[in-house]
Amino acid sequence: MITKYLEIEGWFNLQEAYLNLVKRVPSYGNIVEIGCFKGRSTRFLCDALIAEAKPGVRVDVIDTFEGTTGEHDGLELGSMYDEFKNNLHDHLESSRVIPHVNRSDNQQLIDSFKDGSLDGLIIDGAHDEESVYLDTKNWYPKVKESGLIIWDDCEREPVRRGALKAFNDYDDADELRDSIWYITGDERWFGMIKGLNGKALGRKLKIFPEKKST
Ligand SMILES: C[S@@+](CC[C@H](N)C(=O)[O-])C[C@H]1O[C@@H](n2cnc3c(N)ncnc32)[C@H](O)[C@@H]1O
Repeated sequence: MITKYLEIEGWFNLQEAYLNLVKRVPSYGNIVEIGCFKGRSTRFLCDALIAEAKPGVRVDVIDTFEGTTGEHDGLELGSMYDEFKNNLHDHLESSRVIPHVNRSDNQQLIDSFKDGSLDGLIIDGAHDEESVYLDTKNWYPKVKESGLIIWDDCEREPVRRGALKAFNDYDDADELRDSIWYITGDERWFGMIKGLNGKALGRKLKIFPEKKST
């Protein structure tokens, strides 16, 4: 049973989405998570990797550890990074988790990841349209063909708009946007499997159980 994450403050409730990613990622694969706060989602992800016998997967997390302006105002943030390190101490010690205390739009950080190198990308940083647009535009190229991309909060219009806008520059923008699946219910995320057969693959693997119109 994966339960430790429940003791960590945060918003994470994408258990099924993350479990799908854990099942898809190869044994020595790479995942980037943008927005980890005090580590609730990262704790779940790493504990699930262990439970699935995939201890060799590397998880790079990116967070300013300063909270999001307008979203976390008034919250007791404390020393977020210290709490994160405490909550993830074992996964940090084993170098399963590599934290990047940085903005996700930092070009040097973006350039340090090779294009087509990621098996999974999770976008859960700032939720305004421009931030989601930049996170998607900057990090989508880093995902390999057949990699899984997960965006949190599909019910928020700015999040959806930001993600969709990021595909404007692609020749096959309409097909790319059409391959995004919206998962409603308790979890409320949206995602895509990169590549032309991503939609069919997602359906076949039952990763995308329900399609909601955009
Ligand atoms: C919704 S929270 C993440 C929730 C987390 N996944 C959990 O399990 O609760 C969003 C996070 O994004 C971070 N953030 C906001 N803007 C950012 C930026 N430009 N670059 C990196 N991180 C950012 C905040 O510090 C915050 O920790």
